[in-house]
Amino acid sequence: MDVAIVGASGYAGGELIRLLQTHSEAEVVTATSRALEGRPVSSQHPHLRGYTDLAFSNPAPGDIDADFVFLAVPHTAAMNYAGALLEGGARVVDLSADYRLPKAVFEAVYGVPHTDYFEAPYGIPELRRDEVRGKQFVSNPGCFPTGATLAAAPLARQAAYVIYDSKTGVSGAGDNPSATTHYPNVADGVNAYKWTSHRHLAEMKQELAALGSSAHCFFTPHLVPVNRGILTTAHIILKEPMGQEEVEALYRHFYQGEYFVRLQKPTLSAVRGSNFCDIGVESEGERVVVVSAIDNLVKGAAGQAIQNMNIMCGYAENDGLKVPPCLP
Ligand SMILES: NC(=O)c1ccc[n+]([C@@H]2O[C@H](COP(=O)([O-])OP(=O)(O)OC[C@H]3O[C@@H](n4cnc5c(N)ncnc54)[C@H](OP(=O)(O)O)[C@@H]3O)[C@@H](O)[C@H]2O)c1
Repeated sequence: MDVAIVGASGYAGGELIRLLQTHSEAEVVTATSRALEGRPVSSQHPHLRGYTDLAFSNPAPGDIDADFVFLAVPHTAAMNYAGALLEGGARVVDLSADYRLPKAVFEAVYGVPHTDYFEAPYGIPELRRDEVRGKQFVSNPGCFPTGATLAAAPLARQAAYVIYDSKTGVSGAGDNPSATTHYPNVADGVNAYKWTSHRHLAEMKQELAALGSSAHCFFTPHLVPVNRGILTTAHIILKEPMGQEEVEALYRHFYQGEYFVRLQKPTLSAVRGSNFCDIGVESEGERVVVVSAIDNLVKGAAGQAIQNMNIMCGYAENDGLKVPPCLP
């Protein structure tokens, strides 16, 4: 299957190229970048030298010739591509926020008009596999909502309050440097940001509701001086207390047979470079503390996008995603 990656010079695009090297059915034939058109992919991604001879190109949306397309571009850019690609018959996963929320919610949260809206399944495969299977277009979830929702999902219906406290590595902000990501502003420090107003909260609330939860949901992110990873501590205040054994049994049952969810004490370095989400639980009766760890660029972006592609196309769900994590 011929694959195109729009936004291939970015972090998520680079991860798509890396992971797809080991896919048994998919070959990357187009890697786009406006700024790097004509230059070898390895000029931007030196770790991929010897794996691909591709050069970046910059085709118009209607001229992208591929069976499957990943949109790894910023929000508001993806909506310029999706319609034309789908009309041309390609299957598409969008990694941006453009199709994760209903139109009116998107416009309110992101403060911009949506110029080409249609509905797409929200692809957290462990929770919505049946909605993704066989579809032509799937919206890939945000990185924070992926780790947070997987942490809370088994207790969603029992929860009165869900409070997510997340720590993210700096690659979550993409390849474009800014004052926030400038080395002296990040190194040796930990900063809370968007304490009560991060845009991913809308996705978190949407997914709890989809799981039948009536819980009040809150979220505060923190930037920590690591490249990759999101560690989320979910404080789940229950309607009725539950003991440790009961909670553990619930999580074991909920995630039974899920290749990418491992129930063990989470740490960022144990998932780095992989599509795993590690989850640990500890109950003190009324409050259950659930900690999850993902790699923001893999389970939080490119890896989950490939997982969705595999389900859409009927391939083994872990094809291209069996690379072991890299520790330390
Ligand atoms: N980083 C993460 O951890 C993460 C996690 C989950 C989801 N995402 C989402 O995935 C998408 C990509 O993120 P990223 O971190 O890889 O960003 P990035 O490193 O900034 O890369 C963005 C890519 O999109 C291209 N691009 C930018 N504006 C464009 C436009 N208007 N039209 C076409 N191409 C454009 C860029 O190349 P040119 O400018 O040269 O064209 C570049 O290849 C974003 O929507 C982001 O929110 C990222």
